[in-house]
Amino acid sequence: MTGPESEGSQVRRAVCPGSFDPITNGHLDIISRASRLYDEVYVAVMINKSKRGLFDIDERIDLIREVTAEYGNVIVEAFHGLLVDYCKQRDIPAIVKGLRAVSDFDYELQMAQMNNGLSGVETLFVPTNPTYSFLSSSLVKEVATWGGDVSHLVPPRVLEALNERLRKD
Ligand code: PNS
Repeated sequence: MTGPESEGSQVRRAVCPGSFDPITNGHLDIISRASRLYDEVYVAVMINKSKRGLFDIDERIDLIREVTAEYGNVIVEAFHGLLVDYCKQRDIPAIVKGLRAVSDFDYELQMAQMNNGLSGVETLFVPTNPTYSFLSSSLVKEVATWGGDVSHLVPPRVLEALNERLRKD
């Protein structure tokens, strides 16, 4: 049995949380590496009602599902509220996060310690592939908005969606 109902089973689960507006090659690198370490990897897309993204939550989820389908053990869902509550509901003991540079560390450490203090959930940091150490969704959007080439920074399906969206607006 797999899924949240199999509480107490030996299924090893982890979550990769984020905004994913949109998913980049940097995210994909972390998710694919997590998918080799865990039986099930949940990609949890945070719903932030106060911040309108370029893509809405369902669009982000569809894109992530398309580009992670080949891994075979990635489950993509939206979540709202505290990440530790999402982890409890899904029986997920570990959060996997990419660290791009030292500048990520301060805030990530605070969140990891807070989450551990709240519920005992562990955070595992994976060093980002140096090819993507400067990469963020915000920069991709900014560069793409002004016509820059981001084709090496996002999966082809995401590039297509970006071009479509930016042409429309
Ligand atoms: O891609 P992002 O925007 O850097 O992701 C940040 C995210 C979603 C991982 C973080 O904001 C988060 O976990 N939010 C959920 C709310 C929560 O649990 N906050 C307390 C963190 S200690």
